[in-house]
Amino acid sequence: MVRKAVLPVAGLGTRFLPATKAVAKEMLPVVDRPAIQYIVEECVRAGLEDVLFVTGAGKSAMEDHFDRALDLEAALAAKGKDADLEVVRDLADLATIHSVRQQEPLGLGHAVLMGADHVGDEPFVVILGDDIVDPATPYLERMLEAYERTGRGVVGLMEVPEDQVHLYGVAATEPGDRDGEVRITGLVEKPDPDEAPSNLAIIGRYVLTPDIFGVLERTPPGRGGEIQLTDALQTQAEEEPLVGVRLDGRRFDTGDKLGFLKATVQLAADREDLGPEFVAWLRGWLDDEGDAAADGGTGGSR
Ligand code: G1P
Repeated sequence: MVRKAVLPVAGLGTRFLPATKAVAKEMLPVVDRPAIQYIVEECVRAGLEDVLFVTGAGKSAMEDHFDRALDLEAALAAKGKDADLEVVRDLADLATIHSVRQQEPLGLGHAVLMGADHVGDEPFVVILGDDIVDPATPYLERMLEAYERTGRGVVGLMEVPEDQVHLYGVAATEPGDRDGEVRITGLVEKPDPDEAPSNLAIIGRYVLTPDIFGVLERTPPGRGGEIQLTDALQTQAEEEPLVGVRLDGRRFDTGDKLGFLKATVQLAADREDLGPEFVAWLRGWLDDEGDAAADGGTGGSR
């Protein structure tokens, strides 16, 4: 049984400056909750209630978000705001949150290694703080099922356009045992397009076996001078193929401005409370923009 998740959240968020100058990128709200909450909720849905944040300087708001907030709770109780009070309290009960500091930005592999003491000799999940998968897709559940069936490390994969492979870890694969699964025989971190073994990219979700820690300790700095998780997985895959589980649903890179906007619009549209009114407004606005473009203008706003 997999019980623990390690969430590396120490990154500086430079793709999202200036918003991330004083606020952790994982705390930027997508609709009405910080991006990191979607990830912790995804863990809990898949049965993982032990969550380790691998943090860095300036990230303490993330721990506060999942902790009790006694002053706020007292103020809400005094005002009779029971629904808000429940939302705030439920967050503190959502999962058991632990944290460890990554003192130097030595790479994703190094961040995962920071979790070794907490994880111990158990398989565990890693989810990157920028990658939100559509909450309606039971994707992590599929990955965990693949691990339980095979006992091998499992890597989340998605097809990307060839001009984007250089942004991702990319897998060399063979056909898998099931629909939607592949056998991973090799992995390359951020390859040049002509050296990419495929267009199947790693999307920030992994089920790892604890021997990865020993491999990471022996992994030298790779791409960007950083200790890469992809390189350690490549070492494992050389011994015996890993399992790749393909995502067929939606995934958003919320560390990127455009990805963040897409996540906000699509996840707001999916919400029962906000979606109908928001989509109606959006349709009207797009129609106005279309009309204005046809007239040669710049469009208005409602
Ligand atoms: C990291 C991983 C990369 C993966 C990507 C997914 O890169 O190193 O293999 O494809 O996340 O988002 P980063 O985006 O942190 O540079």
